[in-house]
Amino acid sequence: MQAIVCKEFGELSVLAHGELAEPVPGPGQVKIEVHSSGMNFPDTLMIAGKYQAKPPFPFAPGMESAGLVVALGEGVQGLNVGDRVMAHLSWGGCAEFAIAEAHKTLRIPDSMSFDEAAGFMVTYGTTYHALVDRALIQAGEVLLVHGAAGGVGLNAVELGKLLGAMVIATVGSDEKIDIVKQYGADHVINYIKQDFREVVKELTGGEGADVIYDPVGGDVCDQSMRCINWNGRLLIIGFAGGRIQDIKANMLLLKGCSAVGVMWGGFAGRSVAENHANFAKMFEWYEAGKIKPHIGDRFPLAETREALEFILSRKSTGKVIVTIKE
Ligand SMILES: NC(=O)c1ccc[n+]([C@@H]2O[C@H](COP(=O)([O-])OP(=O)(O)OC[C@H]3O[C@@H](n4cnc5c(N)ncnc54)[C@H](OP(=O)(O)O)[C@@H]3O)[C@@H](O)[C@H]2O)c1
Repeated sequence: MQAIVCKEFGELSVLAHGELAEPVPGPGQVKIEVHSSGMNFPDTLMIAGKYQAKPPFPFAPGMESAGLVVALGEGVQGLNVGDRVMAHLSWGGCAEFAIAEAHKTLRIPDSMSFDEAAGFMVTYGTTYHALVDRALIQAGEVLLVHGAAGGVGLNAVELGKLLGAMVIATVGSDEKIDIVKQYGADHVINYIKQDFREVVKELTGGEGADVIYDPVGGDVCDQSMRCINWNGRLLIIGFAGGRIQDIKANMLLLKGCSAVGVMWGGFAGRSVAENHANFAKMFEWYEAGKIKPHIGDRFPLAETREALEFILSRKSTGKVIVTIKE
C-alpha cells in the first residue's frame, strides 16, 4: 500500500512517499481504509524519536484518521465492516490502510465529512476533557485560551463559548485574530504586541481568569500565573513554545488556585465509557450545527512532510489534514 515511510528517526526530511506492507488487525483491533488523517505536533516528535512511543521501522506517521472499517480483528464488538469511523491511532495514519484499537474507534455522524472527522478526535477530545472533566468550568466563568488559533486552542474557544464562558484568547499574529473571533472569542489579544496579563486584569476588573487553557507553556504559563483568579484552574495542555515551565508552589498557595494536568490519551484509555460519552455529546452538538471543525489546510499524502512543516511554521489555523482517498 502507499504510505509515508519513516525508516530512521530525524528531521522531517527522513520521510519518503513509498510502499509499506498492508497491516492486519490483531485481537480487539480494526483495519481502516484511510480517507483522511489529521496532523498533530506530536507526529513531528515521533519522527524525531523524541516521543514516548517509538515505533519499529519502517513505520508511517499519523495518530488520527477517518475512513471505512474494512476488517475486524478477533473479539471486536460494536463495529462493523463498512462503518464510517474516526480513530485515534498509535501511528500509521499516513497510509492507505491503518490499524486502530476498537475502543479508540468511533462511528461518526452521517453528516460529518472524513476530512472533518480526521482532525476531530485528538483536539476536541482533549479540549472537552480539559474544560468539562478537569476544570469543571461553569457558565459565566472567564476562560483564557492561549494558542487560540491552533488545533486545541480553537476548539477551546468554541467549546468554552458553548459552555457559557466569557472567552479571552491570545494569538501570536494579527492574521489569526479573525478566525478566533469567528469561533466566538469575546476578546482576542495579540500577545506579541500587548501584555496579555495586563489586558486580562483590565477585562476582569483586576480579578483574573477563572480557567486558563495553556497549550504553549514556558513564559506564557509564567505570565498566566499572574492573571489567574482566586480558585482558578490552570490547565496544563502542552508545551508548544518549547520550554517546560516550573510552577511555583507559593503562587498556587497565594492565589488559592490549582495547576491541573490534562492527558487525553491516558484518560481515553483508562475511562473508555466516559470518553465515549464525551464524544456522543460533541457529535450531538455537531449534528445540531453548534460546533464546526475548522480545517486550516489540506495536503495530499505525498506532501505529508509539507503538512507537518506548515504546523511547525506556526502559521496554521485549526487542523491540518492529509487527504489520502478522495
Ligand atoms: N495534553 C493533551 O492531551 C494534548 C492533546 C493534544 C495536543 N496537546 C499539545 O498541545 C500543544 C498544541 O497542539 P496543537 O495541535 O494545538 O498545535 P498547533 O495547532 O501547532 O497550535 C499550537 C499553537 O501554539 C502557539 N505557539 C506558541 N509558541 C510556539 C512555538 N514556538 N512553536 C509552535 N507553536 C507555538 C501557536 O500560536 P501563536 O503563534 O498564535 O501563539 C500555535 O498556534 C502541543 O504541544 C500538543 O502536543 C496536548
